[in-house]
Formats: sequence, C-alpha cells, structure tokens
Amino acid sequence: MAGSYKNFMKLLESWPLDKSKVGSDLGQHIRDQLRVAFSKGDAAYQPNPEQCNRYYSSLKRISSNYYGQLYKRSLLSTASGLNREICNLALTPEVRKSLIEEDKGIFRRIYCLKYDVCSNKDLHVPVMVQEVLTYMVPSPGKVYIDMTFGAGGHAIKLLEHSPDIKIFALDRDPLSYEYAKHLSQKYPGQIIPLLGKFSELPQLLKPHNVKENSIDGILFDFGCSSMQFDTANRGFSLSKDGPLDMRMDGLRCPSQVTAADVLEKATEEDLARIIKIYGQEKRAKKIAHAIIDARYMFRKLETTKELAQLIESTLDGEIRKDSLGRFSHSATKTFQALRIFVNNELNEINYGILLAQVYLKLSGLLITISFHSLEDTIVKRHISGNITDNVANAVALKYANYGKTFDKDEFERLTQIPWKMMHKHVLTPTAEEIKTNPRSRSAKLRAIMKVK
Ligand SMILES: C[S@@+](CC[C@H](N)C(=O)[O-])C[C@H]1O[C@@H](n2cnc3c(N)ncnc32)[C@H](O)[C@@H]1O
Repeated sequence: MAGSYKNFMKLLESWPLDKSKVGSDLGQHIRDQLRVAFSKGDAAYQPNPEQCNRYYSSLKRISSNYYGQLYKRSLLSTASGLNREICNLALTPEVRKSLIEEDKGIFRRIYCLKYDVCSNKDLHVPVMVQEVLTYMVPSPGKVYIDMTFGAGGHAIKLLEHSPDIKIFALDRDPLSYEYAKHLSQKYPGQIIPLLGKFSELPQLLKPHNVKENSIDGILFDFGCSSMQFDTANRGFSLSKDGPLDMRMDGLRCPSQVTAADVLEKATEEDLARIIKIYGQEKRAKKIAHAIIDARYMFRKLETTKELAQLIESTLDGEIRKDSLGRFSHSATKTFQALRIFVNNELNEINYGILLAQVYLKLSGLLITISFHSLEDTIVKRHISGNITDNVANAVALKYANYGKTFDKDEFERLTQIPWKMMHKHVLTPTAEEIKTNPRSRSAKLRAIMKVK
C-alpha cells in the first residue's frame, strides 16, 4: 500500500494547512487519519485498495475545487451551490410547496435563507431612481402599483422616501415574487406581492378590493431584470451558455413555449417575420434560413451558444454597432426578437398601459422606462392618442386609413387623449448614472399624468 500512501500524501501537499483553523482543519484531520491507518502495518491492517482509490479520487476532486467549479456558489446559495433561483426553475410549484412545507434538509436552508433585498446590490440596480421619485412624489397615504417589481429596486426607494405608502408589487417572474414576499415582511402591509402579468392585473387586484380610478402612481420599468439576464439557465443571455428558454414566467406556466420551441417549430416565414419585426434585424431572412438548415443538420437548437454561433457564422462575423455606437454581437437582435415573442411583450405593454388608465385616479401619474424603440413607440402612441380598438397603431395615425373620413363622435373619441406629458422631451439618464450603471445607457423615461 506504499503507492497509495504516497499518492495520498502528494495529494495532501496540494492542500495547504489552514493555520487559522487550529484543531478543526480538514486537511490536518485527513493527514492524521492517514498516518494512523497506514502506520498500523500490513499484518494488523490491510486497507482495501478499491476503497483507497475511491477516497483518493474524492479527495482529489475536493482539493482541486471540482465541486466548486461544477456548482458555482452564487448569491444566496447553500454549500451545494443550489439556490432559491435554481430550485424555482427546476421544480414545479407543487413540488416546491411540499418541500418548503416539509421544512427539512437542504430545502430548509434554501428557502429560509435570510437576506435583505435592500442591501442586495448584486441583484438589479434600478435606473433613473431620482427621476422616478421626483415625478411620483411619494407621500403618506399614497398607493402605487410597481408593475415590474424585479428585485424591488424602485419600490424600496419609494418606501425609503416616504414610509407610509402602499405598493402593489407585480411581476410575472416567480423569483421576483419571492423577493416581494421577503420585502413585505420588512414592510408589513405596505408591500403587497402579486404574481402575474400586466394583463392579469384586474384579477390579481380583485381580492384586495382595489377600485378603478384609485391609484396614485403606476411604474413600468420594461424589459428583463439583471437576475434574468445573468442566470445562464434562463436562456436570455448571449454571453452565458444555457438552455434556450427565455420565459420570464420561469416554470409558472409550463405550457408556455420556449425560445427553443419557436426555433424548432416555427416556419421559415414566421421566423423571418419574428426576427425582423421584434428584432429590427435587416438580415432576418438569412438568419431564418440558417435556422431551418440547422434543423436538418443537428436536430434542434438547444442552447444559447449554439444559436449565437449559428448566427455569427451565417453573418460571417459581421461587425455591428448599436444605436449608441457600442459594439454588439451579430445575434443580439435575434435574441431580443425571440425574447419579445416568447413573452408576448409588446401586447403586454399595450394592455398594461390601458389598464394603467383604468386604475389611476385623475391626476394620477404613470411612469414608463423603456430600453428600446419598440417599447417606447407603444408608450408614445398612447400618449399621442394613436390607438384604435385599444391597440397602439403599428403605423403613424396620419398614414392609417388614409382614405377614411370620421364622423363627429368618432373624431372626438380619437382626439380625446387621456394623458398629459409632464415634461417636454423624453428623459434620459445622466452621464454619471451611465458611468456607474452601464445598463441604464439606453433608458428613456416618460412621466405622464392621467387627465381624463
Ligand atoms: C427591468 S426589470 C424591473 C427592475 C425593477 N424596477 C428593480 O428596480 O428591481 C423588469 C421586470 O419586469 C418583469 N416583467 C416584464 N414584463 C412583464 C409583464 N408583462 N408582466 C409582469 N411583469 C413583467 C420582468 O419579469 C422583470 O422582473
């Protein structure tokens, strides 16, 4: 067994002793145990070679941080690397509920981890906070709806500004709902977590007896949260390899299609249309064609990396810059298109603004923060009254129904705009904010008052 002993000792050399842990260092403990085991001599003690090898490979993995690499420890994770976010994604709500109720073992630690959303700077840095506070003017007794709660960045700032306000915290992402529940423990009765989409707002508000025309302010901070982008498993990010999922709802709506389903099942024409309209991608047809070709070559596009590489090779590594002059990956627009399509984002925004008009009181305030022109265009069309049959027009009103004449009632209805802009030009972040939070670069804020 001399060979095994030497191997063990060599291995332990790569595992330096931790002098700060006198009497409790694992490395020292294993060294002592080995010495005892091997010093017993062949006659009295015969270590089992198979067992020795097993121990040896386990130790090797631990000392080379194999498990640490495999299960990266992230914020709020346990020693296993599992965290609430991963569990929420991997487990159905029923299984999660029963595990939480059992309140045992690892799940106990995962779901009982105490954290303070307020101090969690890694989650999501809210954008244009000062502008939101300036226009919302939080003061005692006011009631708000944060339609995009995320990690609660804006909601917390509002609460800190005026402690006697109440916020309905809506988000379609179960993880954000968990954050909202935690925050509601810190601010009992002031944060009311709601899990669902903008379009589900009426049924979510009903149990709380919220009446129409009763809310003081509604905030929309469109798009994805940093937590969604930064978690490879959610499939939103080009730079992190993960399954092509992209559902903001996670597993909340299991029948909802994923980005991989769209890439697998949509026709070439539909793919081209999705990529062109939602991604504003000029090479949409070429990309759609490559996706269809890929289906025949390697069955199904399953990971973000596979899709990004396919687009990169299709466009011959075309160098691109976005509207702000930043270098961008040739697949960025296609990723945006798929995300918008999978989450039906633009219809949700349109419907959300119609609902904001229903729930805001007269002189109530609507704030929207958008990150690309498709989002902002819908907001602008509502502000300018360019909506027909409750849908923001795809083309400017002056080009729509060119030959149509309107009767007096119709004309009055069309020209009665319920909104008034609170500032002349769209607001953008300060240079200082962009420096500290680059994600804010493309933000556009509009503060609008309900006047009808
Ligand atoms: C940019 S983040 C909001 C960040 C938040 N303001 C903060 O400071 O932490 C956008 C959030 O809106 C949510 N969201 C997007 N579309 C939604 C919809 N239609 N219904 C409900 N939530 C939505 C996303 O899940 C995401 O968490």
